[in-house]
Amino acid sequence: MPGKSLSRWTMAWFGSALLFLLGACAMALFGLAGPGEWSRGAGMAVVHLFVLGWLCQVMLGALIQFVPVLAARPLAFPGLALPALAFSSAGIMALAAGFLTLDGHEALRPLFLLGPFSIGAAFMLVAVTVGATVLHRACLRLAEVRLVVLAMVALSGLWLSGAVMALTLAGTRIAVDLTEALPLHMLLGLGGWLSLAAFGVSYKLFAMFLLAPEQGGMVRRAVFLTAVLVVALALWALCLLLAGRSGGRAVSVAIGLVPALTMIYLGEITRLWRSRRRPVPEANMLWSRMGLLFLALAALLIVPGWQFGGVWAEAAVFVALVGWLSLLTLAQMVKIVSFLTWVQIFAPRIGRQPVPVVQKLSDARAVASGLAFWSVGTVVGCLALLLGSSGGFLFAVLLLTLGALGVMRELIAIRHLSHLEPAERPACLPHLVLPFTFSRARAEARS
Ligand code: HEM
Repeated sequence: MPGKSLSRWTMAWFGSALLFLLGACAMALFGLAGPGEWSRGAGMAVVHLFVLGWLCQVMLGALIQFVPVLAARPLAFPGLALPALAFSSAGIMALAAGFLTLDGHEALRPLFLLGPFSIGAAFMLVAVTVGATVLHRACLRLAEVRLVVLAMVALSGLWLSGAVMALTLAGTRIAVDLTEALPLHMLLGLGGWLSLAAFGVSYKLFAMFLLAPEQGGMVRRAVFLTAVLVVALALWALCLLLAGRSGGRAVSVAIGLVPALTMIYLGEITRLWRSRRRPVPEANMLWSRMGLLFLALAALLIVPGWQFGGVWAEAAVFVALVGWLSLLTLAQMVKIVSFLTWVQIFAPRIGRQPVPVVQKLSDARAVASGLAFWSVGTVVGCLALLLGSSGGFLFAVLLLTLGALGVMRELIAIRHLSHLEPAERPACLPHLVLPFTFSRARAEARS
């Protein structure tokens, strides 16, 4: 039965990630993040609620779900998923609160030390479950699996760079040069961990959703080898940093390789798109294509970002986090949640009664309007950062929040099976985030 190989806690990871996303948006709407605010503790807290709470949690939850699909093997140690979620949520809240010590809230200093360790425990648990699933010779021949493993290696470097910066800022005896550490940290987080994991998962998901033949060969090998070079240079720079030496040259070369890596990947995805057998792609793929355009824009902005820093660097990071990674995530999340809900409720009924198709669980127009708000918000936010306009940035955050709320509303409708005709709705509905079902009659009586 297909449902047997599903991880039980993916919805909980997604639910937690969406709450962090709303939290980050709400704090930004209160003016705690924006042009000129990034170096303040509150600004860093917002950044990490977004990157760790939203993007990392979705990615970790999705990997736990998809690594068995990528590797065609059952997930090892599935019981680690829930403690990993608990450690990561607690750690992210502690780290975000800890950042406020930079704004003078001294009482929160212990959280600055505790947060990274709780987050590290979560990363370790996920690494054990993912690693034990894929570290087999047959699996490692698959390009998408190798990219995910490389992304996990970058994740360990990301954690180490973040932890030593936190220890430095907390005033412990461990201290590194923050001006050297920060670009390296961002490269490992954005380019190494999040983007490489997204590349790996997209190879499989895009081929599946577009009904395209699986690609491979030279171009995919070129993506992998360039990615290995970028991660190796970043880890070498990290070793130099920890030894008290400068790794600036290695970071420069690694960042210089990122636009090339991006363009080779995009070239390959363009070929995959053209070879599809699905004539009209669904909403999740059309909006993922917009995410890919933002990836190209971020890769272009990296060049002046690294050269001149300042607003160029802010705009490059913003477009990569919000336009590329978040838009891709939001678009694919709608499809993944529809699919998981369908498997949970309808897969066991196949052959016994008529079942609706997965597409009927969502409303493509509602999804498109949420994602359109998000995309316009990204463009407005990028321009506002380039012009240093706080008002423009606030407007962008408002658009992004409306977009996120629109998609969340649709996700709730999918879980409640709201788009199905009454006759198609089963007697049991899935819980919003927990791996249980409950009686529809009871839910309707309560509302
Ligand atoms: C994908 C994950 C991550 C990404 C993309 C990321 C990104 C960033 C960015 C963009 C900044 C600069 C923020 C600003 O100027 O307002 C930053 C700073 C920082 N990050 Fe992260 N981060 C990630 C994970 C982590 C983790 C896991 C830790 C701790 C273990 C951490 C600790 C820190 C610290 C302490 C700073 C402050 C550095 C300074 O003041 O110079 N980060 N990070």
